[in-house]
Amino acid sequence: VDLTTRNTFGVPARAPVLVEVDDAAALPRLFADGIVDAADPALLVLGGGSNLLFAGDAPGPVLALTAQNVETGDGGDDIVLVRASAGVPWHGFVMHTLSLGLCGLENLALIPGTVGAAPIQNIGAYGVEVRERVHAVEVFERATGKVRRLAPEECGFAYRDSAFKCDPRRWIVTAVEFALSRRPAPMLDYAGLRDELAAMDVATPTAAQVAGAVIRIRRRKLPDPAVLGNAGSFFKNPIVPASQAETLGAANPRLPVFPVAALPADAATHGEADGDATRKLSAAWLIDACGWKGHRDGDAGVSPDHALVLVNHGAATGSQLLALARRITASVHERFGVTLEPEPRIIGADW
Ligand code: EPU
Repeated sequence: VDLTTRNTFGVPARAPVLVEVDDAAALPRLFADGIVDAADPALLVLGGGSNLLFAGDAPGPVLALTAQNVETGDGGDDIVLVRASAGVPWHGFVMHTLSLGLCGLENLALIPGTVGAAPIQNIGAYGVEVRERVHAVEVFERATGKVRRLAPEECGFAYRDSAFKCDPRRWIVTAVEFALSRRPAPMLDYAGLRDELAAMDVATPTAAQVAGAVIRIRRRKLPDPAVLGNAGSFFKNPIVPASQAETLGAANPRLPVFPVAALPADAATHGEADGDATRKLSAAWLIDACGWKGHRDGDAGVSPDHALVLVNHGAATGSQLLALARRITASVHERFGVTLEPEPRIIGADW
């Protein structure tokens, strides 16, 4: 099976077999019948293909969940619980919740991918991470064949990370339940968001208007994967000890340094009093400073609009993009002593 159109980099890759499942309740039977081996370490669950790089072919069977259910339920007070199956496209889902008058996902508009992929890398943008809105994640546990409903505390959420990402062989995410609110609580602190709303002549924005501003910013800064193959940010913003951030910041006054976002629930485990303070650096800035923005190695390139986004200008292969990513990482390390890590999952090669 050809996977070229099933990854947003648009790089060529093949899989021995692709199984589409339109009812997650059929997973136990699929595995029991031996159509796919649940224990196969090479089994790959594919969502929108927007957060992976095929550096080679898929080494085993590929599974895609295609159910499109969305249900709402009362969560008490102003809270509405919205449950969506894993295969629902993320952006359409966000717009649907906004059309129901529900607030909470507006900052996450226009992110490519599916609902099921959202908790895996704890998608985040413009000051909100999806973990702040997740009520439960429904999973199929591959080793036991059991269906489970995980509370957010069980999901190991961190910046662009989760228990699902750490151990991709353990669970298959089948649905996600979100706790959204009827009461607007706009999060406008991320740089540029208020300016965008001002440019739209909006003083007290509705959730839908915040989404509109986010969409405008994203369209301006991030290449549309339908036009130019990419997987969003290719590197995570590196988290370094505060002391290192201070040294780097002193030597490079324009380097953006951010506090590491912590939920109140994390405060106990990530206290800053015990000397483990960390800061997040802008990977885009570090890469830009090394001169990579707009660089091209054949058809593998760095977006001219955003240094953090690797792009496929047409005929790049995954291994060419991977080679470019490694060169970028080496040059940032040499110049700044900071080690970048890829954000997308790399299939068919080791990072
Ligand atoms: N910058 C540069 N050069 C560039 C681009 C940016 O120097 O070419 C600097 C600027 O100083 C800018 C700063 O980097 O102010 C931050 O840029 P931006 O606001 O675009 O955010 P980012 O840190 O590069 C992160 C997420 C994005 C998310 C945006 C907005 C990561 C790895 N990336 O990017 O997420 O949309 O913030 O919240 O955390 C993704 O994960 O795929 C993704 C696109």
